[in-house]
Amino acid sequence: MIREKISLSIHEMTVVAMMVAIIAVLGAVPGIPLGFIPVPIILQNMGIMIAGELLGPRLGTIAVWLFLFLVVLGLPLLSGGRGGMVTILGPTGGYIFAWLFVPLLIGLSLKLSWYYGMTQGVTEFLIVWLWGVIFVEGVGAIWLANQLHTTLIAALTSNILFVFGDTIKALIVVSITRRLRHIKAFSLRR
Ligand code: BTN
Repeated sequence: MIREKISLSIHEMTVVAMMVAIIAVLGAVPGIPLGFIPVPIILQNMGIMIAGELLGPRLGTIAVWLFLFLVVLGLPLLSGGRGGMVTILGPTGGYIFAWLFVPLLIGLSLKLSWYYGMTQGVTEFLIVWLWGVIFVEGVGAIWLANQLHTTLIAALTSNILFVFGDTIKALIVVSITRRLRHIKAFSLRR
């Protein structure tokens, strides 16, 4: 039973590998440094949202954990070609930690909303926004405050700029994935 849940079919492995590649490619776009905090504007977080949206809680989580495992091993897959444990434990570590849970939270919330017949795009956007933007910014700010020896309020305030950009990213992710979901390869959601 447990083995059945953990083991992946060739099809699932292919989809997970594709998602890892998508997240990595988004990291090839260098981050835009802001100057006032050591956290860049990046595109890669769109990949994390897409993982939950397209692959669902199980496969999306496997894809993101696999991606971050490769980063921990030292592969330069984070934006701007960074990787390794030192990066993970740096000022952006909180955002990266939050990414581990984003596909699970988005995927489960999405399934729940569909169960209750809430299939509208606006509901889907709110789910992606809550977990892919607000949750990530919140966890990221807690760690950032600790790293910069500043207050949580100051860290949260410095994150407000990200919320605007990430809201646009969430809108793009939802509009793309709602179209892609009709493709059979992405219709598996366990
Ligand atoms: C890293 O590559 O070290 C992770 C960077 C995390 C950047 C965060 S993710 C949420 C927010 N939106 C952005 O565009 N940047 C920050």
